[in-house]
Amino acid sequence: MTPGIVLSSLILVASAAALARADEAGDKFFQDKILPRLKQHCFECHAQDAEDVKGGLLLDTRAGLRAGGDSGEIIIPGEPEGSLLIQALRYAEDDRQMPPRGKLDQAIIDDFVKWVTDGAPDPRQE
Ligand code: HEC
Repeated sequence: MTPGIVLSSLILVASAAALARADEAGDKFFQDKILPRLKQHCFECHAQDAEDVKGGLLLDTRAGLRAGGDSGEIIIPGEPEGSLLIQALRYAEDDRQMPPRGKLDQAIIDDFVKWVTDGAPDPRQE
């Protein structure tokens, strides 16, 4: 092998490792910061076992979160400003303010913004 090939192989291996680490960090962020909030503040109205699912939106599965609700997709990975989910959390519009009973703390909303900015990683199996 020429030194050039060795070097580029090394770079490939290193960047694959870096990507894997970024994935792990994103997955952990979802597990630690996002999923517990969804459970606590959203599943009551947006989960399969909710008495009455609201807005056609299921947040208790990866597929449901990706599919969105009656208005279509609620997240655009990488684009928090364009994501209905973030607008709802920010109480940006008069209707569709989530959760309806009171705005979440700014620090929690910031976590959601970071999560969507980072591509909205969701390691759930279904
Ligand atoms: C007490 C019930 C309730 C809770 C809790 C709740 N929602 Fe909702 N949600 C609704 C209702 C009702 C609608 C449909 C009417 C509307 O759009 O205002 C809705 C609609 C939505 C929509 C729009 C779906 C679409 O496609 O139109 C989003 C996004 C949403 N909710 C996100 C959330 C998030 C995120 C949480 C938790 C932070 C949450 N909701 C908690 C009742 C709830």
